Amino acid sequence: MSNHRIPAVLTGLGTCLPPRVVTNEDLARRLDTSHEWIHSRTGIASRRIADAGTSTAELAAAAGGAALESAGRSSCDLVLVATTTPDRACPATAPQVASALGLTGAGAFDLSAVCSGFVYGLSVAAAMIGAGTCAGVLVIGAERYSAIVDPQHRGTAVIFGDGAGAVLLERGEVADGYGAVLHTELGSDGTGNEMITVPPGERYLQMRGREVYTRAVPTMTDSARRAAAAVGWQPADIDAFVGHQANLRILESVAKRIGVPPQRVITNIEDVGNTAAASIPLALAAAADEGRLTPGDRVVLTAFGGGLTWGSAALRWPDVRPVHR
Ligand code: COA
Repeated sequence: MSNHRIPAVLTGLGTCLPPRVVTNEDLARRLDTSHEWIHSRTGIASRRIADAGTSTAELAAAAGGAALESAGRSSCDLVLVATTTPDRACPATAPQVASALGLTGAGAFDLSAVCSGFVYGLSVAAAMIGAGTCAGVLVIGAERYSAIVDPQHRGTAVIFGDGAGAVLLERGEVADGYGAVLHTELGSDGTGNEMITVPPGERYLQMRGREVYTRAVPTMTDSARRAAAAVGWQPADIDAFVGHQANLRILESVAKRIGVPPQRVITNIEDVGNTAAASIPLALAAAADEGRLTPGDRVVLTAFGGGLTWGSAALRWPDVRPVHR
């Protein structure tokens, strides 16, 4: 059964990708790697990298503003920014983003769940709407991994990209249920906290890629299965499976284990790489643009990342047109 009784409805979707495209060939010119290695292991061909002067808050505000525009709204009462790469340790990014959007006075806080940040944010937002605490919540995933990835380390530099994606969730009374976030679930295992980490006092991210891969596949599979089962969907009922875009092989493997056919697996990792908390809304927007998501579709989201953290959501796709900034 759905665990969100007052429906939170997805009414807006926005993105912001920095304009600079960095291809695998560009990386191979300065690192001991190749397009073939990167593409065959990860599915990534290029990623966007923000210029040094662009902040996470700017990316977040652009995506958040785009989501509000997509919904035809100019306000909401909570701004939630999921990010691994806040511009500062203190204060949080979200109040600055809210003010940049003309939402001074709205509640605003950051959420830190690494690559699961968007699903965590969606769950918190849906629960706050369900509890009657909020009527409209902007959930923004915004990342500038280029700030924490060692550009000389081929194991991580080829994986991550910058960008932001956002959704507006609103208290809804939709008769057809389109856009409703029906169910969310969250999980964590802090014993794996060393697998993806910026060690204290250090600048750059360290990742035990092989171990992360091995944990990600069964964990995402189980979580996505539980979310679908909670709303009574069989694998064949899932119209679109949208996993965190960490690695194409992980997504294909999870989909196969769940029993979702390849044509229902949504991916945009080839063009943007792993954008952590921004990855799922960016993938949703790309799929909506391509006509791969249509109103009423049964959509399962699932994410896994540092912490370790994971989470999944089941929702009905709304009639929404993404806006890009
Ligand atoms: N180009 C060429 N060779 C590379 C390379 C690169 N960019 N990065 C690593 N290698 C080398 C390694 O040095 C190693 O060489 P060795 O065998 O001589 O020691 C070899 O390739 C295999 O390395 P390994 O790390 O075991 O590769 P892998 O097949 O596991 O692929 C990842 C690496 C990162 C692509 C893969 O582990 C992965 O995607 N993991 C999940 C990451 C993830 O999801 N992270 C985010 C979670 S939110």
